[in-house]
Formats: sequence, structure tokens, C-alpha cells
Amino acid sequence: MDTKTWLIVGASRGIGLEFVRLILASGHRVVATARGSGSALDAIARDAPDRVTLLTCDVSSSQGITSFIDQFVQSGVKKIHYAVINAGILEYPNRALDMTFDHFAQHLLTNAVGPIIVAQKLLKLSDVSIDTIAFMSSDSGSTQRFLAFEDGFAAYAASKAALNQALRHLAEELRRKQRHTVILALHPGEVATDMGMIETSWDLDGGQISPEESVIRMMDVIRSKGIDQSGTFWTWENKEYPW
Ligand SMILES: NC(=O)c1ccc[n+]([C@@H]2O[C@H](COP(=O)([O-])OP(=O)(O)OC[C@H]3O[C@@H](n4cnc5c(N)ncnc54)[C@H](OP(=O)(O)O)[C@@H]3O)[C@@H](O)[C@H]2O)c1
Repeated sequence: MDTKTWLIVGASRGIGLEFVRLILASGHRVVATARGSGSALDAIARDAPDRVTLLTCDVSSSQGITSFIDQFVQSGVKKIHYAVINAGILEYPNRALDMTFDHFAQHLLTNAVGPIIVAQKLLKLSDVSIDTIAFMSSDSGSTQRFLAFEDGFAAYAASKAALNQALRHLAEELRRKQRHTVILALHPGEVATDMGMIETSWDLDGGQISPEESVIRMMDVIRSKGIDQSGTFWTWENKEYPW
């Protein structure tokens, strides 16, 4: 088997943890990050110690990202086939009429600024080659298909829209430099995780899917995209999504 190396940033729970579980179950290698130790990730890593590298990363601060990059360099990994920048927060509700400056800023830092700077710093490591970077976005971040019913999602939706625009620019900047890393945005579906389980004032259309179903499908989506599709947005069902 052709063993691939994945990087999952934000792997302590939910979708990120499921990526790690499925990557290891299919015999591949993973570099996985959490903010601290003691999570379910440690238990999964213990079962395949030769195929897992655990690092810490807090994407909401410059210092947390610099520390992660230092650890990454120390790990000696030189090739990442697929990076998934998955970390994100949804502190509900975050209405534009009510949210504080700090609440809005925290969504932007964690969901947009941090993920892009993590990718930027990885791409600046001249001896590390990365085939694909997939950012975990959300349908909430689409401006063309604005979800007006999502009461309490103002900061979250704005942060994912910011992520989307920044990653599109990242894709074009790489293209101008003739660099071949594929940049993707993903919508994972409505997934039954801690984030997905919040009690909202509206009902979900179509219900939720399991982390396993979402991640199996997203792994196929990520693997199926080439450089011509860099700077595009996909759902877990491999349907192109409007920005
Ligand atoms: N679930 C859904 O229905 C859904 C739908 C659309 C998009 N998404 C997106 O999918 C991604 C994963 O969501 P999920 O459902 O798995 O959520 P989750 O269960 O709440 O997990 C969030 C993950 O992000 C990590 N994280 C949060 N803040 C971080 C920070 N500052 N630095 C590093 N890691 C941080 C968490 O780590 P800790 O354990 O340390 O908190 C955890 O591993 C998010 O980007 C989310 O916006 C989810």
C-alpha cells in the first residue's frame, strides 16, 4: 500500500478526531494536533504509536502557531500529502445585535486568522512539501447562499466567510508562484459533534450525519481534487458549493 501522511489540526474531538481514527484504520500516517493532552486523541494514538505524531497547536494565538511550527520542524516530517485545518469554534448564540467585541474577535481569530496563518507558515517551510490543504469551512460562510434562518450565527458565519475569501486568495497567490499545493474549502455537512449538538432556535433541514459518514466522504473529496481545482469549495457529498 502507498502510505500517505495526513496532518490534522484540531484533532481532540469531533470531526478532527474522526479523521485521525479513519486515517489510522486505513493504514496511513498522521500528524495530529490538540490544544492539550489527555484527550481521546491520546488513546487512539497509543494503538498505533509508529504511525502517529502528536503535537500541540492553539490556532487562536500567534504564539500557539509559532510553537506548533517549531514542533513540526522538530518532528522531521518533510512530506504531507493531505493537511486538514479543522480547528474551529461556534459559541452560540453570537448575534450581531448582542455579541461583544471579544466574542466576535475570538470567532475571527480561531476560524479565519489562525487557520490561514497555520497554512502560511507551513507553506513557508522550504524543505516541506504539501500536496493539498483542506480548510474546514461551513455552509454558514457562503455569501451567495446566505442562510438567513441561522439566528445566532453572525460571528460564526462572518468568520467562515473571511476564511473562504482568504483561502481563495491563498490559492491564487500560490498559482501565481507556480506552486502546486491544492487549496480547498470543505463543508462537512450537519455533523453530530459537540458543535453540531447545540440547541438552536431553528430545526435542521435533513437532520445530522455521523462524524464517520462525514469524514469518509470528505477524505474521498480531498483525494479527488487536483491543482486545477485549487481554490474551490466542496460539500462532503462532493458537490461544489457556491462561495
Ligand atoms: N459539526 C458540524 O455540523 C459542522 C458544520 C459545519 C462546519 N463545521 C466545522 O468543522 C470543524 C470541526 O467541528 P466539530 O463539529 O468537530 O466541532 P467540535 O466537536 O466542537 O471540535 C472542534 C475542534 O476544534 C478544536 N479547537 C477549537 N478551538 C481551537 C483553537 N483555538 N486551537 C486549536 N484547536 C481548536 C477543538 O479543540 P479543543 O478540544 O481543545 O476545544 C476541537 O478539536 C470546525 O471548523 C467547524 O466550524 C462543523
